Amino acid sequence: MDKSHDEHDDEHARLRGLIGAGRYVVAAVVTAITVAVIARAVVVSLRSEKLYIKVTNGTVLVLGFLPNNKVMMSVALDSSNPSGRVGISYGGVTVSLLQHNRSLITSFVIKDGITGITVGPEASWLSNTVATQDVPADVSQEFVDGMRNRTLVTDAAVHLHGTLRTQVSGLNYTRGHTTEFRCYPVTIGFWAALPAPAGDVSCKEVS
Ligand SMILES: *[C@@H]1O[C@H](CO)[C@@H](O)[C@H](O)[C@H]1NC(C)=O
Ligand SMILES: *[C@@H]1O[C@H](CO)[C@@H](O)[C@H](O)[C@H]1NC(C)=O
Ligand SMILES: *[C@@H]1O[C@H](CO)[C@@H](O)[C@H](O)[C@H]1NC(C)=O
Ligand SMILES: *[C@@H]1O[C@H](CO)[C@@H](O)[C@H](O)[C@H]1NC(C)=O
Repeated sequence: MDKSHDEHDDEHARLRGLIGAGRYVVAAVVTAITVAVIARAVVVSLRSEKLYIKVTNGTVLVLGFLPNNKVMMSVALDSSNPSGRVGISYGGVTVSLLQHNRSLITSFVIKDGITGITVGPEASWLSNTVATQDVPADVSQEFVDGMRNRTLVTDAAVHLHGTLRTQVSGLNYTRGHTTEFRCYPVTIGFWAALPAPAGDVSCKEVS
């Protein structure tokens, strides 16, 4: 046996091995990428077509007191739609503010265009509603006096009541169904009296 021939053969074998391994690596990478792409598609399609709503800063603000017994309040909602496929709209939304003991403080309507809160796929929508409430028709004198007094209403809840619709195609949405959310615990107070925000408060679907 010729030693150099042996080495030559060895080199060829090693080279073939390397090429084989290289092919294997390429195939493995392609497979991994394919699996990842399919997995992501499955994850996106399995994501529930749900709307996630949070009350920004967990607070409802009393912005000020107007002449003629009116009080201005505001609430900011951050709505997100993790679904990769469809848009969601939440329209005709009434916001109700409730004491910890569930007695109603006041309620008002969110006026966000004609379709309400509308969130595209994998998007979010910030709505800031400012309501002017009449005292005492819409909200009690006692509550307003408390707000003037820098009293905070803690452990309050924001209830949302509206119609949730999912997009069928283009501008078409399903007829939808009445959906309620409860966001708790929320603090209500005169804007200058509120402590530093402790974070957003998530709303739970309750119907
Ligand atoms: C939330 O809190 C931050 C920090 O204090 C403030 O800058 C922001 O205006 C607040 N947003 C709302 C909607 O209250
Ligand atoms: C709930 O609490 C508020 C404030 O503490 C009070 O004014 C109201 O009467 C209570 N309502 C009920 C039904 O207990
Ligand atoms: C305002 O605050 C004072 C002192 O804390 C209290 O005595 C009074 O009852 C409060 N008034 C209202 C309307 O809450
Ligand atoms: C969308 O709505 C329009 C008007 O109501 C209708 O003509 C159209 O066929 C609908 N498209 C689909 C895909 O449902």
